[in-house]
Amino acid sequence: MANVGKARVLAAAREAAMKPRRVRTGIISPPVRVQRPSCEQLSCRRTNSPFQELALWRCLALSERMSDPRTTPLVQSLPASVPFVGPEAQERQRGAPFAARIGANENVFGPSPRAIAAMQAAAGDIWQYGDPTSHDLRSALAAHHGVPMDNIVVGEGIDGLLGYLVHLLIAPGDRVVTSNGAYPTFNYHVTGYGGALHKVAYRDDHEDLGALIDTAQTTGAKLIYFANPDNPMGSWHSGADVARALDRLPKRCLLLLDEAYVECAPPGTAAEIDIHDPRVIRMRTFSKAHGMAGARVGYAMGPAELIGEFEKVRNHFGMNRAAQAGALAALHDTGWLTQTCAKIAAARDRIGEIAAANGLRALPSATNFVAIDCGQDGDFARAVLAALLVRGLFVRMPFVAPQDRCIRVSCGRSEDLDLLSEALPDALAEAHQAA
Ligand SMILES: Cc1ncc(COP(=O)(O)O)c(C=O)c1O
Repeated sequence: MANVGKARVLAAAREAAMKPRRVRTGIISPPVRVQRPSCEQLSCRRTNSPFQELALWRCLALSERMSDPRTTPLVQSLPASVPFVGPEAQERQRGAPFAARIGANENVFGPSPRAIAAMQAAAGDIWQYGDPTSHDLRSALAAHHGVPMDNIVVGEGIDGLLGYLVHLLIAPGDRVVTSNGAYPTFNYHVTGYGGALHKVAYRDDHEDLGALIDTAQTTGAKLIYFANPDNPMGSWHSGADVARALDRLPKRCLLLLDEAYVECAPPGTAAEIDIHDPRVIRMRTFSKAHGMAGARVGYAMGPAELIGEFEKVRNHFGMNRAAQAGALAALHDTGWLTQTCAKIAAARDRIGEIAAANGLRALPSATNFVAIDCGQDGDFARAVLAALLVRGLFVRMPFVAPQDRCIRVSCGRSEDLDLLSEALPDALAEAHQAA
């Protein structure tokens, strides 16, 4: 879209967003002040297309309209928030499905056929609530990890468990440390409970555990978020380094070790930490290597006292019955997991080759995605991303400089990566022209 056209569309969207509107109840909502969303609110520095921007303005207008004087002062103080614009919303805006869905670090290779069969078999019983204790799944996870069941809690993906943990630990004003540009859903929960976030720069595209601990010491933080491997850069630390760093953790500070991608990582990435160690809670998921993101199954492992506290705040009937059965079957299908991890590794290599063929550098990755360094600044990478989106490829990118010089491509099937290979030269040419 020409710049003038784009500006006109956005101006119209902004105007529409700020107009009083008669809602179905007949109540006319007052005009609201809709400010341009910040990077934190949107979890992205800039939108990638006029369509996306339009969607964001609409969402923001809606969430502003929904702010209600009866909500708590904390909720009223929160910024209007659209944490993620999903590919479905983008497809609705562009009026066409994406040809390749390789932006959200989903696992396109899919779940184990045994997991699919278990979920299908459970479908007829879906009138029953799921077991609120997730007993069978927790018991199997306990056997798998060689730890007691009381040290494991199952939840609605890591995202859900992050919310519960923050609920348990963070009161307004409590300090929390994370990396600048790391997984934003964690920040969203911290902000939601009034926590004060302190962000530490990445070092050489790695989360810097030493600096995170230093900052926890100087700020008196109660909680550190650390993903190993990391999203969005795909970098990782050895488990031995992570375990060693724990000795410097301040007293009363908890390390939250997010291991969403650990099954895709080289051996030795998962730190050997005693399950009873009160300094650490680790979180894992069936969304990534197990290919079950839509089922929403994750789990946290840690000292029984802390794990037991989740019972006070978690949604006891939050775990879908079929999803529990699917995750249990997936856990037992180790052959499928091995095969999937091999496919992911091959896809990482292929993404590296595609990047190199276009004069770009793919960063080493221990995850199911690869960050491709576009070689210039964030504006240039955003232009590359926008050009890929227009060509029907759903990809994403880091939100924060200097990581935002990269685009982030999830490991796709060969047909997905063929599309990337076709589209990238033109996308780069377009971005160069715009620069
Ligand atoms: C580092 C990290 N943690 C957690 C999650 C979310 O996992 P889940 O699907 O289990 O909520 C993601 C998803 O992209 C992630 O990248």
